[in-house]
Amino acid sequence: MSDADPAAALKRAAAEAALDEVAPGMIVGLGTGSTAAFVIAGLAARVRAGLRVRTVATSMATARLAAAQGVVVADMADLAQIDLAIDGVDEIDAALRAIKGRGGALLREKIVGRAARRMIAVCDVSKRVEKLGAAPVPVEVLPFARTAAAAAIAALGATPVLRRDGGKPWRSDQDGLILDCRFGDLGDPASLAAALQAIPGVLGHGLFVGEIDAAYVAGPAGVTRLGAAPV
Ligand code: A5P
Repeated sequence: MSDADPAAALKRAAAEAALDEVAPGMIVGLGTGSTAAFVIAGLAARVRAGLRVRTVATSMATARLAAAQGVVVADMADLAQIDLAIDGVDEIDAALRAIKGRGGALLREKIVGRAARRMIAVCDVSKRVEKLGAAPVPVEVLPFARTAAAAAIAALGATPVLRRDGGKPWRSDQDGLILDCRFGDLGDPASLAAALQAIPGVLGHGLFVGEIDAAYVAGPAGVTRLGAAPV
């Protein structure tokens, strides 16, 4: 949310447009990252103005951010379905397939996105790509499987790099490790998603190939909505 981020105004515009799809009484999934932070701030403003919603968070950081702004955060562990998830992306294509997880919250983001009746992506136009794959695909692995899973991912054509935080391996909210996996070519993203998920020790990956129903993409000329109209 820093003013130093030149894309901040676009992220805010995409977030505000997506928030028009939030209706009273909904359970809303809150994403993680700098664009999702604008969603949280915009939702908090609506809550202060009287909107009654509940939310679930895709990361501990998001839960803290939302609660600090007076937004009620329920425990996803108690819920089978939510109404709407709104989250950022690292890349998104015309078919609403995306790479997510640069912030490391990809596993909870996938759980919340799958549990949502509808998932909406929000981003600035720099994230809109013709072909996915310039960004690495983050893959969360059980620490026990770190080396074996990395070898299996390498056999799929990637160069897995263990994400680090200073000198130490970066840890997710559930203590997983992240392998950032650059593929020369993703091939068919759905097939790759299935292959990654089938590797023992892989907890989740950042390829979203059927979860996202719509996207708000903000550029200098305004906000464009991709995907089917809300029902
Ligand atoms: C968090 O794990 C990610 O999936 C983010 O949603 C994604 O990296 C986009 O983040 P920004 O909105 O900060 O670019």
